Amino acid sequence: MINVAVLGAQGRMGAQVVKSVEADSGMSLIAALDLGDSLEQLIGSGTHVVVDFTTPDAVMSNLDFLINNGMNVVVGTTGFDDAKLAIIKKLCAANPSVGVLIAPNFAIGAVLMMEFATKAAQYFESAEIIELHHPDKVDAPSGTASRTAQLMTDARKSAGLAPMPDATTTSLEGARGSLVGDIPVHSVRARGLVAHQEVIFGGLGETLTIRHDSIDRAGFMPGVLLGIRKVISVSGLTHGLDKFM
Ligand SMILES: NC(=O)c1ccc[n+]([C@@H]2O[C@H](COP(=O)([O-])OP(=O)(O)OC[C@H]3O[C@@H](n4cnc5c(N)ncnc54)[C@H](O)[C@@H]3O)[C@@H](O)[C@H]2O)c1
Repeated sequence: MINVAVLGAQGRMGAQVVKSVEADSGMSLIAALDLGDSLEQLIGSGTHVVVDFTTPDAVMSNLDFLINNGMNVVVGTTGFDDAKLAIIKKLCAANPSVGVLIAPNFAIGAVLMMEFATKAAQYFESAEIIELHHPDKVDAPSGTASRTAQLMTDARKSAGLAPMPDATTTSLEGARGSLVGDIPVHSVRARGLVAHQEVIFGGLGETLTIRHDSIDRAGFMPGVLLGIRKVISVSGLTHGLDKFM
């Protein structure tokens, strides 16, 4: 039986994780904590894995506490850049028994979309990302878009591709998106959306569009449960659910 605690338990994702853990016969929900609850109560609680779906502002201090107290962590909260990942790696190095999974996207289809986009990135002259989310999301671009863009940038570099053609000399600020690595990323926020992403490729005489749509938060749960099961048997930082698939 895996003992699980959830941080951000009253949030949209956290509430879903609480339900999924309770419904899983191999897991037991030890604590469902939200803003204002002390993490100290997790010490000595027998918790094996803590799942964090809080906010980019809160997650770093949560991780500092949890890793230093020997707890494995599955992190869905977004907003991680290279500097933050380096801090987590250091924390893990000082606590070698701990496993941490940080996954910008737990939807299996989204993980596959990133893999396909990374493959296609080697072959097309032009590539851009449009990510679309609900208007309550606090960070832009999304963690998934940033991760996809970084993977695509690395793939373009390995393939020795030249910089993308773009004749723009005058533009309104933001009109061409934000660059993540070499890839322009455009963020749309609108009521009614959940989490969606299009990766558009252009080459001589053809385009390719890869699109993933999360239409319900339940779609993230198989990936979260997979992360909980796997993280207890690894040590150090794992970045991306693909490493566990
Ligand atoms: N990785 C993925 O697959 C995935 C999918 C969807 C959302 N997300 C990310 O997950 C995060 C949460 O998303 P959401 O839509 O559930 O947000 P939300 O605003 O609905 O929920 C966040 C919850 O965290 C709580 N919280 C804030 N600070 C806290 C702290 N210090 N300790 C404990 N709880 C705290 C808030 O009170 C709130 O209940 C965001 O960063 C979002 O981008 C990731």
